[in-house]
Amino acid sequence: MCGIVGYIGPREAYPILIKGLQRLEYRGYDSAGVMLYDGGQIHLSKTKGKVEDLKKRAEQEIPTAGNLGLGHTRWATHGVPNDVNAHPQVSNSGDLVIIHNGIIENYGAIKKALQDRGYTFQSDTDTEVLVNLIEEVKKSEGVKLGKAVQIALNQVYGAYAIAVFDRNKPNEIVVAKLGSPLAIGLGEDEFFVASDASPFIEYTNNAIYLDDGEVAIIRPGKEIKLRKVEGDTVVYPNIMELQMSLEEIEKGGYDHFMLKEIYEQPRAIQDTYRGRLLADQGLVRMAGIDNHLEKFTNADRIIIVACGTSWHAGLVAEYIFEDLARIPVEVEYASEFRYRNPVITPNDVVIAISQSGETADTLAAIKLAKEKGAFVFGVCNVVGSSIARETHAGAYTHAGPEIGVASTKAFTTQITVLTLIALKLAKEKGVFSESEFHEMLTQLEGVPAKVERALQSNDLIEAIAEVYKDSTNCLYLGRGYNFPVALEGALKLKEISYIHAEGYPAAEMKHGPIALIDEMMPVVVIATRKGHYEKVVSNIQEIKSRQGKIIAVVFEGDESVKELADHVVEVPATSEPLSPLVTTIPLQLLSYHIALMRGCNVDQPRNLAKSVTVE
Ligand code: F6R
Repeated sequence: MCGIVGYIGPREAYPILIKGLQRLEYRGYDSAGVMLYDGGQIHLSKTKGKVEDLKKRAEQEIPTAGNLGLGHTRWATHGVPNDVNAHPQVSNSGDLVIIHNGIIENYGAIKKALQDRGYTFQSDTDTEVLVNLIEEVKKSEGVKLGKAVQIALNQVYGAYAIAVFDRNKPNEIVVAKLGSPLAIGLGEDEFFVASDASPFIEYTNNAIYLDDGEVAIIRPGKEIKLRKVEGDTVVYPNIMELQMSLEEIEKGGYDHFMLKEIYEQPRAIQDTYRGRLLADQGLVRMAGIDNHLEKFTNADRIIIVACGTSWHAGLVAEYIFEDLARIPVEVEYASEFRYRNPVITPNDVVIAISQSGETADTLAAIKLAKEKGAFVFGVCNVVGSSIARETHAGAYTHAGPEIGVASTKAFTTQITVLTLIALKLAKEKGVFSESEFHEMLTQLEGVPAKVERALQSNDLIEAIAEVYKDSTNCLYLGRGYNFPVALEGALKLKEISYIHAEGYPAAEMKHGPIALIDEMMPVVVIATRKGHYEKVVSNIQEIKSRQGKIIAVVFEGDESVKELADHVVEVPATSEPLSPLVTTIPLQLLSYHIALMRGCNVDQPRNLAKSVTVE
């Protein structure tokens, strides 16, 4: 899981690489490096640390001129984060330079074979092995770079998005992809290469997203040549028009991407249902569903596969689909599903949820479900991502780029898409009357305004964060639709503030977690008026009598919980199925403020990466 960027054309490459790496830093940020070619020499600078550290070092260490360059920001897989293991990696002759996102699983055997032929290795990386394998193929087979890359890739297994440069063919870069994403930006007589389109969005709107198993030779002034790595078939590139704007990927006045993305949610939810939710016509229109409606209405069950926050959105969807559309649902961690020989039939519909559209476990689960004959539907945010392309049909969330590593607007927009689908199916299956359907559509249309109001509790939440910022543990409780919100709240807190946090269905507390409660334990309870309210109030009483500190999220106008809780955050009331869209907002803000007060890196928490393209 790393970010790669490359440039070849008439401009100075270095500023493009540095800016591009900064935008890709969400993919990994433990070390970084650049290679620049100035027409005669290769200049390399690498460092442990962030892109900012690289910038300082490169500008002292190397001439940063040159119209061709490669850059990399790393999330370590093989070899600790240090200067030597950082990319680019260089071949033994010094002629070939590579950047790589992914894992070469059989690198050990290849390394041994290369060592037997006299190759030496400076780093512990699988990438250095790959670049030397390409060099060895080039020498032993007497082929040019493109062909050598192709032959070498047929000998490796694992995942890769690579860009390779050969000093002996300085007018081209060779790129290839399997499992990890790779986009090529097409400018006038210039090309950009990157893990996603954000590094080149201000230069071009035209991009090619490589498919798995494709290799491309890019040369300014020439048309792109695309081939299959295996079998050598020529592929005709599909040029896409990008929808991302530069403004969308910058912080827009907020201190952190996470905060910006939390505040973007009213707009993001609206963008998600715009053109799909037609309340005045009593319609939900979604091409991905409309074209395959019978698959859904005839499905024996829906299986949802996802990871992390997307899995939590899947859990909310389980409640929505079963409650509203009366379709049985199972929600699976993609990582477990892919390895446990699941029973899947052609009458199952599998929904894969993924913000990035690149999560390796989710991709593998999709492939398995397809092999077993299921219809697979994707809910992704990133347009053109691997999951969007691998699924039979799908719906984008249209949340705009999510850069903060902790997922926020992806969660609420995923729930919005899934709610639209459930409502449509409830109507189609006759579970909902015309008026019930219409009522829910109108309520969903009202959610952005309620999220806006929920955001107004920011100052109150900041004050609550001040009280609990030094806690070492925290419990999150919710019931029904708000149980997954409790899980998500706990995940947000632990991943960015490093406070241990657990989410539980409120009623499960008495089966174990209650033992943890004492005066040091903050307990966040979501107590919406319609969802098993009295029972949650009883749970709050149980916490209170054990001196636990209660932070309650309630609907506006609540009286009973106010009397018991230490802190109360009010959010506008919604119908229960829509409540996660609103109750999750204070929990996101609470994590944000606590993390900030603890001096944590909110947008780039330790050990994490935005897009988990390894198992
Ligand atoms: C948590 C978070 C992760 C992701 C998970 C799946 O804030 O961001 O748990 O939700 O890695 O990622 P996607 O949705 O891209 O498949």
